[in-house]
Amino acid sequence: MKKTPPKTQKKNPNLHLLWPTPILVKKFGQHQKVNKELMEIFSTHRNKLEKTKKPMFVSEDNIWALYKDEPALQKLVKFIMDGVFEIASEVNAPYWKNVKDLNIEITGLWFQMTNEHKFQETHVHGNCSWSGVYYVNAANADKTKDDVKSGDMPNGVTRFYGPNMEASAGGHGEFGNMYLQDTHFDSYPEDGKLVVFPPHLKHMPFPYAGEEDRVIVSFHAQIHNPNGFKYDYSFS
Ligand SMILES: [Fe+2]
Repeated sequence: MKKTPPKTQKKNPNLHLLWPTPILVKKFGQHQKVNKELMEIFSTHRNKLEKTKKPMFVSEDNIWALYKDEPALQKLVKFIMDGVFEIASEVNAPYWKNVKDLNIEITGLWFQMTNEHKFQETHVHGNCSWSGVYYVNAANADKTKDDVKSGDMPNGVTRFYGPNMEASAGGHGEFGNMYLQDTHFDSYPEDGKLVVFPPHLKHMPFPYAGEEDRVIVSFHAQIHNPNGFKYDYSFS
């Protein structure tokens, strides 16, 4: 049977597009001042622990616990918590109808300084309801799609893989399922940009090389009732 694709797209009441993936992307207004101070804290921390400079440094995930008194980190963590609440409250709105107060905890926060094409393998995070990345120094990472040199992989970009990746890998492809070719979302590093995502979402920072190190903060967050850090099965 021959068919012609419709020229316009109308909302079809018969069609259900289910289970969207929430990702929050927003810019920190105070990033210029705060990032400069964060760079000093992180460089000092790194210099203390590293005798010979290596191309990549990944701190332990206790940076928030270690530097709780630093105003720059306090400001960043507040911005992160506000972002986590923004995305969590939106997607949970139908389920939070009877919830009065909540408590957001940053359960892990660490930084990474990368250069010389170092990267991390595709991975997911755990033990949290939200994860995120914040760009302290995007340095020479590709800032837009147009910056990616033809035929090259993106420099230092964070790539998120959606469920279509599984559907398309080694699968059947023709006009009927072209939409499955939309497999990933690229986050282009930009100083002061925050990305909050569900921790089960596969992602990978592409190899980075540049004059300055690419510096990012990663974190885990949990949301509980204000009476205690742990929840029981009733979420009460
Ligand atoms: Fe990660």
